[in-house]
Amino acid sequence: MSKTPATAASAPAKGHKPSGHCAPQAVLFDAYGTLFDVYSVALLAEQLFPGHGQALSVLWRDKQIEYTRLVTTSNHGAHYQPFWELTRAALVFAIKKLVHHADSTRASGEFDSQVSQLMNQYRSLSAFPENRAVLQALKSQGIPTGILSNGDTAMLTLALKSSGLHDLVDHIISVDPVRKYKTAPEAYALGEQTLGLAAAKVLFVSSNAWDALGATWAGYQTLWVNRTQQPWEEIGPQPTHIGTSLRDVLGVPGLISLTGELA
Ligand code: LAC
Repeated sequence: MSKTPATAASAPAKGHKPSGHCAPQAVLFDAYGTLFDVYSVALLAEQLFPGHGQALSVLWRDKQIEYTRLVTTSNHGAHYQPFWELTRAALVFAIKKLVHHADSTRASGEFDSQVSQLMNQYRSLSAFPENRAVLQALKSQGIPTGILSNGDTAMLTLALKSSGLHDLVDHIISVDPVRKYKTAPEAYALGEQTLGLAAAKVLFVSSNAWDALGATWAGYQTLWVNRTQQPWEEIGPQPTHIGTSLRDVLGVPGLISLTGELA
């Protein structure tokens, strides 16, 4: 598929408040890919499966998201499983596809151990280094923050605790209670319900383009943190803002005008 790369210039310029948007009064973050580096598992995957680490981390993530869509859109959610279970299923699929398809002689005990090691790694994924300063700045300015994620509450709590960010986030919002994954409207609505704010008054931050698009469709102001120079989606509107790191949250004009200069 041919795609035209989206650039920062294709979104409202930094330092310029887009017309029609009020100043955001709260900030919600996606978790996986946005605060936590889902591809940081590649190192351990490479140790366990030499030559396959990078590909395995990518297929694992892609399959995980595919499964969230499969259970959300099939049979009115009757096949819902928590994110942890889908993550494990996606990992098993990825290993089987990339590594074990030609290696059926491996003892199942070893396979189970490899899966366990990688799932344990997923529990405490590396956080992106700029997260702390950004969350601290928002907290010091009294701006409510939250995570709105497909992850279940236990996973999210552990990931935040193990990265030392737990005290810097006001709300942990898992889609688990509505048993529908993003981009279902019910999942994004949890952010509005928890904050008591209309989506149009909230900045939603995601590194996943599909998630930033889903949130834009749900009415949020959005910042797409395009860490890896990906093209924007070919369907739907542009996000409100495009950045390259979480630090760009602090450059969103409405936040600064609400709170004064940030250090
Ligand atoms: C999240 C994943 C999908 O919701 O990035 O955290």
